[in-house]
Amino acid sequence: MDKNETYRLLVKQVESLIEGENNSSGQLANAAALLHETMGWWWTGFYLVKDGELQLGPFQGPIACYRIKRGRGVCGTAWDEDRTLVVPDVEQFPGHIACSSESRSEIVVPLHDSEGNVTGVLDIDSKELATFDDVDARWLEEIARVISRHAL
Ligand code: SME
Repeated sequence: MDKNETYRLLVKQVESLIEGENNSSGQLANAAALLHETMGWWWTGFYLVKDGELQLGPFQGPIACYRIKRGRGVCGTAWDEDRTLVVPDVEQFPGHIACSSESRSEIVVPLHDSEGNVTGVLDIDSKELATFDDVDARWLEEIARVISRHAL
């Protein structure tokens, strides 16, 4: 299936999976599971803003670091700059935090509350170089909006 078509379906599936629930950690866990299983990524999960830092939230994949400071690593930079970061080669990203030595490329998409404040990030890692491009960024931003609306 064409990548756009896969994502179009995924957006609908994420929405029907999490709408109408009010258990945020459960919704985020199920969203991570759906994305991870469908796309076959290496690590798929959430870091949430708490006490002035990013703290590990629900995820699928290998164990990960608990806390990331604002402006640190790919996640902390995406939060600080409030924008999606596509990293084709993590070794080329200054300050990349290697939770897993097998991770080669990464995309991080901010989540927002209704006032536009960043409340966390969706972080996805791949074992291959250059897995993510602008198409992924656009669709994952749409998925992040759905998740922000229904699960945070
Ligand atoms: N690589 C991330 C840290 C989180 S792990 O990839 C799960 C970063 O540099 O922010």
